[in-house]
Amino acid sequence: MKILNSVADVKTYISTIKALGRSIGFVPTMGALHEGHLSLIIRAHEDNDITVASIFVNPIQFNNKTDLAKYPRPIEKDIQKLEEIGCDMLFYPTVEEMYPEPVFDKYDFGQLDKVMEGKFRPGHFNGVAVVVRRLFDIVTPDKAYFGMKDYQQLRIIQTMVSTLKLPIEIIPCPIIREKDGLALSSRNVRLTKKQRSIAPAIFKVLSEIKDNARKTTVEEAENWAISKLNKYDEMFVEYLSIVDSETLLPIKDWDSTRSCLACVAVFLGEVRLIDNVMIF
Ligand code: PAF
Repeated sequence: MKILNSVADVKTYISTIKALGRSIGFVPTMGALHEGHLSLIIRAHEDNDITVASIFVNPIQFNNKTDLAKYPRPIEKDIQKLEEIGCDMLFYPTVEEMYPEPVFDKYDFGQLDKVMEGKFRPGHFNGVAVVVRRLFDIVTPDKAYFGMKDYQQLRIIQTMVSTLKLPIEIIPCPIIREKDGLALSSRNVRLTKKQRSIAPAIFKVLSEIKDNARKTTVEEAENWAISKLNKYDEMFVEYLSIVDSETLLPIKDWDSTRSCLACVAVFLGEVRLIDNVMIF
Protein backbone atom coordinates (compact mmCIF):
# COMPACT_ATOMS: atom_id res chain seq x y z
CA MET A 1 0.00 0.00 0.00
CA LYS A 2 1.20 3.47 -0.88
CA ILE A 3 1.18 5.92 2.05
CA LEU A 4 1.11 9.55 1.01
CA ASN A 5 1.18 12.59 3.27
CA SER A 6 1.03 15.50 0.87
CA VAL A 7 -1.84 16.79 -1.25
CA ALA A 8 0.52 17.20 -4.22
CA ASP A 9 1.63 13.54 -4.07
CA VAL A 10 -1.96 12.31 -3.85
CA LYS A 11 -2.95 14.43 -6.86
CA THR A 12 -0.05 13.00 -8.90
CA TYR A 13 -0.94 9.43 -7.91
CA ILE A 14 -4.64 9.98 -8.72
CA SER A 15 -3.90 11.49 -12.14
CA THR A 16 -1.83 8.41 -13.03
CA ILE A 17 -4.69 6.15 -11.97
CA LYS A 18 -7.23 8.20 -13.93
CA ALA A 19 -5.02 8.23 -17.01
CA LEU A 20 -5.23 4.43 -16.95
CA GLY A 21 -9.03 4.70 -16.91
CA ARG A 22 -9.32 3.07 -13.48
CA SER A 23 -12.16 3.77 -11.05
CA ILE A 24 -11.47 5.02 -7.52
CA GLY A 25 -13.39 4.08 -4.37
CA PHE A 26 -12.73 6.27 -1.34
CA VAL A 27 -13.19 5.66 2.39
CA PRO A 28 -12.47 8.73 4.54
CA THR A 29 -11.79 7.91 8.21
CA MET A 30 -10.35 9.35 11.38
CA GLY A 31 -8.40 6.15 12.05
CA ALA A 32 -8.71 3.78 15.04
CA LEU A 33 -10.01 1.39 12.44
CA HIS A 34 -12.44 -1.37 13.37
CA GLU A 35 -14.49 -3.92 11.46
CA GLY A 36 -16.98 -1.20 10.53
CA HIS A 37 -14.34 0.78 8.64
CA LEU A 38 -12.89 -2.40 7.15
CA SER A 39 -16.33 -3.36 5.81
CA LEU A 40 -16.33 -0.05 3.90
CA ILE A 41 -12.88 -0.77 2.47
CA ILE A 42 -14.00 -4.26 1.41
CA ARG A 43 -17.06 -2.81 -0.30
CA ALA A 44 -14.95 -0.12 -2.04
CA HIS A 45 -12.52 -2.82 -3.15
CA GLU A 46 -15.37 -4.90 -4.65
CA ASP A 47 -16.85 -1.95 -6.55
CA ASN A 48 -13.71 -0.20 -7.86
CA ASP A 49 -10.29 -0.77 -9.43
CA ILE A 50 -8.42 1.24 -6.81
CA THR A 51 -9.28 1.73 -3.12
CA VAL A 52 -8.12 4.85 -1.32
CA ALA A 53 -8.52 5.47 2.43
CA SER A 54 -7.68 8.57 4.42
CA ILE A 55 -6.84 8.87 8.10
CA PHE A 56 -7.19 12.37 9.46
CA VAL A 57 -8.44 13.29 12.93
CA ASN A 58 -10.17 16.46 11.84
CA PRO A 59 -9.81 19.05 14.63
CA ILE A 60 -12.51 21.38 13.27
CA GLN A 61 -15.29 18.81 13.69
CA PHE A 62 -14.67 18.39 17.43
CA ASN A 63 -16.57 20.80 19.62
CA ASN A 64 -15.14 19.18 22.76
CA LYS A 65 -11.38 19.57 23.33
CA THR A 66 -11.18 16.52 25.63
CA ASP A 67 -12.83 14.33 23.00
CA LEU A 68 -10.26 15.50 20.43
CA ALA A 69 -7.33 14.99 22.83
CA LYS A 70 -8.55 11.52 23.81
CA TYR A 71 -9.39 10.39 20.29
CA PRO A 72 -7.44 7.13 19.76
CA ARG A 73 -4.62 7.30 17.16
CA PRO A 74 -3.16 3.78 16.73
CA ILE A 75 -1.60 4.59 13.35
CA GLU A 76 0.77 1.59 13.12
CA LYS A 77 -2.09 -0.87 13.75
CA ASP A 78 -4.31 1.03 11.29
CA ILE A 79 -1.70 0.80 8.55
CA GLN A 80 -1.32 -2.93 9.16
CA LYS A 81 -5.10 -3.46 8.93
CA LEU A 82 -5.32 -1.49 5.68
CA GLU A 83 -2.42 -3.41 4.19
CA GLU A 84 -3.94 -6.77 5.17
CA ILE A 85 -7.28 -5.89 3.62
CA GLY A 86 -5.76 -4.78 0.31
CA CYS A 87 -6.21 -1.00 0.41
CA ASP A 88 -4.15 0.52 -2.43
CA MET A 89 -3.39 3.95 -1.05
CA LEU A 90 -3.59 5.73 2.29
CA PHE A 91 -3.68 9.52 2.51
CA TYR A 92 -2.40 10.44 5.97
CA PRO A 93 -1.94 14.23 6.10
CA THR A 94 -0.99 16.53 8.97
CA VAL A 95 -3.31 19.29 10.14
CA GLU A 96 -1.02 21.86 8.44
CA GLU A 97 -1.26 19.95 5.15
CA MET A 98 -5.07 19.90 5.24
CA TYR A 99 -5.47 23.42 6.63
CA PRO A 100 -2.53 25.58 5.51
CA GLU A 101 -4.74 28.66 6.00
CA PRO A 102 -7.37 29.43 8.67
CA VAL A 103 -10.73 27.92 7.69
CA PHE A 104 -13.69 30.24 7.14
CA ASP A 105 -15.85 28.03 4.85
CA LYS A 106 -19.49 27.95 5.95
CA TYR A 107 -22.11 25.47 4.83
CA ASP A 108 -25.83 25.74 5.42
CA PHE A 109 -27.76 22.50 5.44
CA GLY A 110 -31.02 24.08 6.64
CA GLN A 111 -32.83 21.90 9.12
CA LEU A 112 -30.57 18.87 8.51
CA ASP A 113 -27.70 20.16 10.64
CA LYS A 114 -29.83 21.84 13.32
CA VAL A 115 -31.35 18.70 14.86
CA MET A 116 -29.83 15.86 16.94
CA GLU A 117 -26.01 15.89 16.58
CA GLY A 118 -26.20 19.39 15.08
CA LYS A 119 -28.06 20.71 18.11
CA PHE A 120 -25.70 19.19 20.68
CA ARG A 121 -22.45 19.58 18.74
CA PRO A 122 -22.56 23.08 17.24
CA GLY A 123 -20.16 23.48 14.31
CA HIS A 124 -19.58 19.72 14.05
CA PHE A 125 -21.21 19.22 10.65
CA ASN A 126 -19.61 22.33 9.19
CA GLY A 127 -16.26 20.80 10.16
CA VAL A 128 -17.27 17.46 8.60
CA ALA A 129 -18.46 19.15 5.39
CA VAL A 130 -15.26 21.22 5.10
CA VAL A 131 -12.96 18.23 5.45
CA VAL A 132 -15.00 15.85 3.27
CA ARG A 133 -15.24 18.47 0.51
CA ARG A 134 -11.46 19.02 0.64
CA LEU A 135 -10.79 15.28 0.65
CA PHE A 136 -13.16 14.83 -2.31
CA ASP A 137 -11.35 17.62 -4.19
CA ILE A 138 -7.99 15.95 -3.56
CA VAL A 139 -8.94 12.30 -4.16
CA THR A 140 -11.68 12.91 -6.78
CA PRO A 141 -13.22 9.46 -6.24
CA ASP A 142 -15.92 7.88 -8.39
CA LYS A 143 -17.59 6.47 -5.29
CA ALA A 144 -17.25 7.27 -1.57
CA TYR A 145 -18.38 5.00 1.25
CA PHE A 146 -20.00 6.06 4.54
CA GLY A 147 -21.38 3.98 7.41
CA MET A 148 -25.01 4.39 8.43
CA LYS A 149 -24.13 4.63 12.13
CA ASP A 150 -23.42 8.30 11.46
CA TYR A 151 -26.75 8.59 9.68
CA GLN A 152 -27.03 12.37 9.99
CA GLN A 153 -23.49 12.76 8.63
CA LEU A 154 -24.46 10.55 5.69
CA ARG A 155 -27.53 12.71 4.92
CA ILE A 156 -25.43 15.88 5.13
CA ILE A 157 -22.79 14.52 2.77
CA GLN A 158 -25.45 13.30 0.33
CA THR A 159 -26.96 16.80 0.41
CA MET A 160 -23.58 18.51 -0.06
CA VAL A 161 -22.77 16.29 -3.05
CA SER A 162 -26.13 16.93 -4.71
CA THR A 163 -26.13 20.71 -3.98
CA LEU A 164 -22.60 21.16 -5.32
CA LYS A 165 -23.30 18.69 -8.15
CA LEU A 166 -20.12 16.76 -7.36
CA PRO A 167 -19.66 13.78 -9.72
CA ILE A 168 -19.32 11.32 -6.82
CA GLU A 169 -21.66 8.50 -5.89
CA ILE A 170 -22.21 8.23 -2.15
CA ILE A 171 -22.64 4.63 -1.02
CA PRO A 172 -24.35 4.14 2.37
CA CYS A 173 -23.13 1.00 4.17
CA PRO A 174 -24.83 -0.92 6.99
CA ILE A 175 -23.92 -0.57 10.67
CA ILE A 176 -21.56 -3.30 11.86
CA ARG A 177 -22.30 -4.54 15.40
CA GLU A 178 -20.66 -6.68 18.05
CA LYS A 179 -22.42 -10.01 18.72
CA ASP A 180 -24.27 -8.39 21.64
CA GLY A 181 -25.57 -5.57 19.41
CA LEU A 182 -23.21 -2.74 20.35
CA ALA A 183 -22.48 -0.68 17.22
CA LEU A 184 -18.76 -0.63 16.43
CA SER A 185 -17.19 2.73 17.21
CA SER A 186 -13.64 3.97 17.69
CA ARG A 187 -14.82 5.31 21.04
CA ASN A 188 -15.79 1.84 22.38
CA VAL A 189 -12.18 1.22 23.48
CA ARG A 190 -12.62 3.99 26.05
CA LEU A 191 -15.46 2.15 27.85
CA THR A 192 -14.65 0.58 31.23
CA LYS A 193 -15.50 -3.09 31.68
CA LYS A 194 -18.69 -2.16 33.49
CA GLN A 195 -19.74 0.43 30.89
CA ARG A 196 -19.01 -2.07 28.11
CA SER A 197 -21.35 -4.58 29.78
CA ILE A 198 -24.15 -2.00 29.90
CA ALA A 199 -23.63 -0.60 26.37
CA PRO A 200 -25.61 -3.30 24.44
CA ALA A 201 -28.77 -1.87 26.09
CA ILE A 202 -28.62 0.96 23.54
CA PHE A 203 -29.30 -1.33 20.56
CA LYS A 204 -31.71 -3.46 22.57
CA VAL A 205 -33.89 -0.46 23.43
CA LEU A 206 -33.80 0.90 19.86
CA SER A 207 -34.79 -2.55 18.57
CA GLU A 208 -37.70 -2.63 21.02
CA ILE A 209 -38.93 0.71 19.64
CA LYS A 210 -38.90 -0.89 16.18
CA ASP A 211 -40.62 -4.09 17.34
CA ASN A 212 -43.35 -2.15 19.17
CA ALA A 213 -43.85 0.64 16.63
CA ARG A 214 -47.51 1.71 16.39
CA LYS A 215 -48.46 -0.02 19.66
CA THR A 216 -48.07 3.35 21.42
CA THR A 217 -47.75 6.93 20.21
CA VAL A 218 -44.36 8.08 18.89
CA GLU A 219 -43.92 10.32 21.94
CA GLU A 220 -44.70 7.46 24.34
CA ALA A 221 -42.19 5.23 22.55
CA GLU A 222 -39.48 7.91 22.86
CA ASN A 223 -40.23 8.61 26.53
CA TRP A 224 -40.28 4.90 27.37
CA ALA A 225 -36.87 4.39 25.69
CA ILE A 226 -35.29 7.45 27.33
CA SER A 227 -36.39 6.45 30.81
CA LYS A 228 -35.33 2.82 30.26
CA LEU A 229 -31.79 3.87 29.18
CA ASN A 230 -31.44 6.51 31.89
CA LYS A 231 -32.05 3.82 34.54
CA TYR A 232 -28.69 2.20 33.76
CA ASP A 233 -25.78 3.23 35.96
CA GLU A 234 -23.60 5.93 34.35
CA MET A 235 -25.91 6.19 31.32
CA PHE A 236 -27.39 9.52 30.31
CA VAL A 237 -29.46 10.07 27.16
CA GLU A 238 -28.56 13.32 25.40
CA TYR A 239 -31.30 12.89 22.83
CA LEU A 240 -33.48 10.10 21.49
CA SER A 241 -35.62 10.97 18.49
CA ILE A 242 -37.74 9.10 16.00
CA VAL A 243 -37.19 11.00 12.76
CA ASP A 244 -38.04 10.99 9.08
CA SER A 245 -35.15 9.26 7.31
CA GLU A 246 -34.88 11.93 4.64
CA THR A 247 -35.52 15.23 6.42
CA LEU A 248 -34.39 14.03 9.88
CA LEU A 249 -37.29 15.99 11.37
CA PRO A 250 -39.04 14.36 14.33
CA ILE A 251 -42.15 12.48 13.28
CA LYS A 252 -45.34 13.01 15.25
CA ASP A 253 -47.35 10.01 14.06
CA TRP A 254 -46.37 6.63 12.71
CA ASP A 255 -46.84 6.89 8.98
CA SER A 256 -45.77 3.81 7.08
CA THR A 257 -45.64 5.67 3.77
CA ARG A 258 -42.47 7.46 4.93
CA SER A 259 -39.37 5.73 6.16
CA CYS A 260 -38.28 6.62 9.71
CA LEU A 261 -35.57 5.69 12.18
CA ALA A 262 -34.87 5.97 15.90
CA CYS A 263 -31.63 7.84 16.64
CA VAL A 264 -29.89 8.17 19.98
CA ALA A 265 -26.85 9.78 21.60
CA VAL A 266 -25.94 8.63 25.10
CA PHE A 267 -23.15 9.29 27.52
CA LEU A 268 -21.79 6.23 29.24
CA GLY A 269 -19.64 7.93 31.84
CA GLU A 270 -17.52 10.32 29.75
CA VAL A 271 -17.87 8.38 26.50
CA ARG A 272 -20.46 9.62 24.04
CA LEU A 273 -21.99 6.97 21.78
CA ILE A 274 -24.50 7.28 18.95
CA ASP A 275 -26.61 4.62 17.29
CA ASN A 276 -29.78 4.24 15.25
CA VAL A 277 -32.22 1.63 14.04
CA MET A 278 -34.31 1.95 10.88
CA ILE A 279 -37.95 1.36 11.86
CA PHE A 280 -39.50 1.12 8.40
O1 PAF B 1 -17.04 9.60 10.08
C1 PAF B 1 -15.87 9.99 10.23
O2 PAF B 1 -14.98 9.23 10.60
C2 PAF B 1 -15.54 11.45 9.96
O3 PAF B 1 -16.59 12.29 10.34
C3 PAF B 1 -15.12 11.72 8.51
C4 PAF B 1 -16.24 11.43 7.53
C5 PAF B 1 -13.91 10.89 8.17
C6 PAF B 1 -14.74 13.20 8.36
O4 PAF B 1 -13.70 13.56 9.21
